[in-house]
Amino acid sequence: MIPIDRKSLVEAADSLTEYWSPRVVGQVNDQLVKVAKLKGELVWHSHEHEDEMFYVIRGAFRMEFETHSVELSEGDFITVPKGVMHNPVAERECWVMLIEPASTLHTGDVVDERTKTLDQQMDQGLSGRQIG
Ligand code: NI
Repeated sequence: MIPIDRKSLVEAADSLTEYWSPRVVGQVNDQLVKVAKLKGELVWHSHEHEDEMFYVIRGAFRMEFETHSVELSEGDFITVPKGVMHNPVAERECWVMLIEPASTLHTGDVVDERTKTLDQQMDQGLSGRQIG
């Protein structure tokens, strides 16, 4: 049983030591809440079955789509619909919260050296919990 207590997105994001390596910090029904530090660019990908939400905790980043790009700064969020190609790009370090289903693969339909499995994204406090 996970203790019911406050969590800080800022503290959780601050504790991350690696870019593009999301950490699961909570769960709401079937959706996982994650924090990540972004810097540079990830990779073009899409998620066939999952929408993804990105909320900017600190800094700014650009979400590139095939048709346009969207600049996001602190407090902004964007939802990327399922099936839409996207590529997050952060000129400087940016902290984000992600909300996405447990089934969402980190880099979607693309696997590269930065792809993290769900196990690798688990916070220690949640690792004993059934996800799925
Ligand atoms: Ni994605």
